Amino acid sequence: MDRYAHVTGWGIATPERILSNEELTQFVDTSDEWIISRTGIEQRYIAGPGETTASLASQAACRALEPTNIEAHDLDLIILATSTPEHIFPSTASLVQDEIGAIRAGAFDLSAACTGFIYALNMAAQAIRTGSIENALVIGSETLSRYVNWDDRSTCILFGDGAGAFVLQASDKPGGILSCIMRSDGSGADLLSLPAGGSKLPASHETVDRKQHTIQMKGREVFRFATRVMASATREAVEEAGLQLEDIQLIIPHQANKRIIESAARGLRMPMDRFILNVNRYGNTSTASIPLAFFEAMDDGRIHDGDHLVLVGFGAGLTWGALAMQWIEPVEKPTRRIQRRRRWIRWYSRIRSFIRRVLRKIEGLIWGAKSHSRKDSNE
Ligand code: COA
Repeated sequence: MDRYAHVTGWGIATPERILSNEELTQFVDTSDEWIISRTGIEQRYIAGPGETTASLASQAACRALEPTNIEAHDLDLIILATSTPEHIFPSTASLVQDEIGAIRAGAFDLSAACTGFIYALNMAAQAIRTGSIENALVIGSETLSRYVNWDDRSTCILFGDGAGAFVLQASDKPGGILSCIMRSDGSGADLLSLPAGGSKLPASHETVDRKQHTIQMKGREVFRFATRVMASATREAVEEAGLQLEDIQLIIPHQANKRIIESAARGLRMPMDRFILNVNRYGNTSTASIPLAFFEAMDDGRIHDGDHLVLVGFGAGLTWGALAMQWIEPVEKPTRRIQRRRRWIRWYSRIRSFIRRVLRKIEGLIWGAKSHSRKDSNE
C-alpha cells in the first residue's frame, strides 16, 4: 500500500516584544517610508532575555501538536531548521525534544538558512514515505536579532524572530507532500553569511571587534538571485508533482521582501492574491517565515480541503527549494484522553529530565569513587 506524508498539525510562537519601523528610526539612520517602500516590512518581533530559539521552538511545537491525535511521546523524529541554534552543539532539536517530552524521538538540526524549513519538511516526508517512521515534527525557529549589527542599516531593518512547526503523519490517503526540489550553489556563499564563531574563524577579540559575529549581506546580489530562483523553483516542483501552475490555489513563499514576492508573481504570471504575504508584520524570520505564513493563511480560511499549495524559499548557501503539497483536512481529531494527558505531559517531562540529570550526577560520583579505589589498590 502507498504511504503518504500529511501535515496534521501546525503552530507558531512569537516573542512578546514588537519593534516597529518608527521605533527603529530612533537608533538607526533610516525611515519608515524607506523600509516599507524597499521591503514591505512595518514591524518585527524581537526576542527578550528569556526567549531563545529553543523556547520559541518548543512553544510552536506544543501548539502544532494540539490539533492532532498524537502527543509528544508518539513522535519518532524532530528536525529543527535554524540559522540561529542555541549552540554549535548540542543540537537545538535535542533541547526541544527534552522540553516537550518527545522521549522516543530522534532529533537533529538542519542548516540550509532560510530554505531550511522546506529541506526539513522534505526529509521528514521521505522518512515517513519509506515506512521508517510514522510521526515527525518539523520546526523552523530563529532569534536572528541576536546576530544583527544594529549599525548596519541595510540588514538590521530586515530580520525578526519567531518560530513555526508542522506535525507530519503517515497515512494511506493520497495527498500531503507531493514533490520537492532542493538546490544549492556554494559559489555564492559570501553573499549572505555569519562569518565567525565556526571552526574557520573561532571567536576572538578580533572577530568581535570586526563584528564578524553579525549578519553580513550583499543585498542587491541576494535580491537578484532570489527573483531568479523563486519562479523557476516553483515551476520545477509543480512539474515534478505532475501538476500545472493553474492547479495551484496558493503559494506560500519565504517572506524576505515584498518586492521579491511580487517579482516571483510576475515571473509566474500569477496574481498576487494567490501569494501569502505577511512580511509586513514579521520581517524576515528565515526558517520560521513559511510556517508563520502558512499559519496565518490557515487562520484566515485561505486553505481548503483538496487545495494544492507550493511552499518556496531561498537563502544563504546559496540555497533554494520548493515543495508542492495537497492539503487534506485531517480527519483524526485529538481525543479527550490525549487532551487530558497533554496537560501534565510537559510537567512530567520536566520532572523526568530533572531526575535524569540528578541520576547522572550520582552515577558520576559512584564511578569516580570506584576508579579512585581501583587506583589506590594498584599503587
Ligand atoms: N534606510 C535608508 N537608506 C538605506 C537603508 C535604510 N535602512 N539601507 C540602505 N540604504 C541606502 C543605501 O545606503 C543606498 O544609498 P546610496 O544610494 O546613497 O549609496 C540606497 O539606500 C540604496 O541601497 P541599496 O542597497 O541599493 O538598496 P536596495 O534597493 O537594494 O534595498 C535591500 C536594499 C537590502 C532592502 C535589498 O537589496 C534586499 O531586500 N535584498 C535582498 C535581501 C534579502 O532578502 N536577504 C535575505 C535573504 S534570505
